Amino acid sequence: MAASSTNSWLFAICILSVFVSPSFSDDTIYATSLLKFKQSLTNATMLENWKEPVVDKLCSYNKPNWTGCLCANDSFIGLRLDGMGLGGEIDTESLSNLPLFSFSIMNNNFAGPFPSGVNKLGKLRSLYFANNSFNGEIPEDSFSGMKSLRKVVMSDNSFTGNIPLSMVELPRLVDLRLQRNRFGGTIPDFSQEYLTVNFSYNDLVGPIPISLSNQDVSSFVGKFFSGIYIFLPFFLLI
Ligand SMILES: *[C@@H]1O[C@H](CO)[C@@H](O)[C@H](O)[C@H]1NC(C)=O
Ligand SMILES: *[C@@H]1O[C@H](CO)[C@@H](O)[C@H](O)[C@H]1NC(C)=O
Ligand SMILES: *[C@@H]1O[C@H](CO)[C@@H](O)[C@H](O)[C@H]1NC(C)=O
Ligand SMILES: *[C@@H]1O[C@H](CO)[C@@H](O)[C@H](O)[C@H]1NC(C)=O
Ligand SMILES: *[C@@H]1O[C@H](CO)[C@@H](O)[C@H](O)[C@H]1NC(C)=O
Repeated sequence: MAASSTNSWLFAICILSVFVSPSFSDDTIYATSLLKFKQSLTNATMLENWKEPVVDKLCSYNKPNWTGCLCANDSFIGLRLDGMGLGGEIDTESLSNLPLFSFSIMNNNFAGPFPSGVNKLGKLRSLYFANNSFNGEIPEDSFSGMKSLRKVVMSDNSFTGNIPLSMVELPRLVDLRLQRNRFGGTIPDFSQEYLTVNFSYNDLVGPIPISLSNQDVSSFVGKFFSGIYIFLPFFLLI
């Protein structure tokens, strides 16, 4: 008897505390994650309004409260941190619980390898890393499991090595821009139906896969066969 009434008291206290305890809005949690993300950036002077105490709403209608946040319908949907002189690390871990549909860091000073854990950003539809100083090989599985990813823009960097095979398996991919890097090897056999690519100005070798033979000629310009400049790759198919 005594035990069961203690239990019901405990139960009541639990229920009450759910209503009484301060409730953190989703945006408060997202803003806290963004602050953590900011810590790994360098020269983040343009993000000076990202600070404690964190806002409880990141968006009012389509207007962001914090610089670089993208808003739609009163909700946070992504980041556009273009041309802010940013460098440092991309801490994907701290972004992984955000509803991040679009992530753009173009025209900054990010260097070093492709950030690890990008494929943990499972909601991502668009990724814009163009015009930084990223370099080195991209691990083959870097894009694996990204079922929503439609657009990947990584032009104007110094990536080397093969085009990662996990890109071939992105089911929704429609736009892939890798021009002006130093990707090597052969072009893998992309087969997404509505895909547009640009592989110009890399160090790729070998033929253009038949699956990409309907692409614009300007997507395959530059040093293609090692040492030979080709401007009319369609001849290769004949
Ligand atoms: C941002 O949020 C803070 C606190 O929630 C508020 O005082 C401020 O007016 C907001 N700024 C903008 C530009 O919406
Ligand atoms: C915004 O909300 C309207 C109505 O609920 C919806 O039709 C629209 O698709 C939403 N837009 C975005 C970008 O989520
Ligand atoms: C730091 O950012 C500012 C503007 O955001 C930019 O003008 C400056 O060149 C950047 N500095 C470095 C070292 O990148
Ligand atoms: C590349 O980014 C730099 C800033 O880092 C900017 O000055 C330059 O205009 C950008 N180039 C293009 C083609 O957007
Ligand atoms: C591909 O990129 C090259 C180099 O930036 C550009 O000249 C060409 O117009 C682009 N082609 C397409 C189809 O995007």
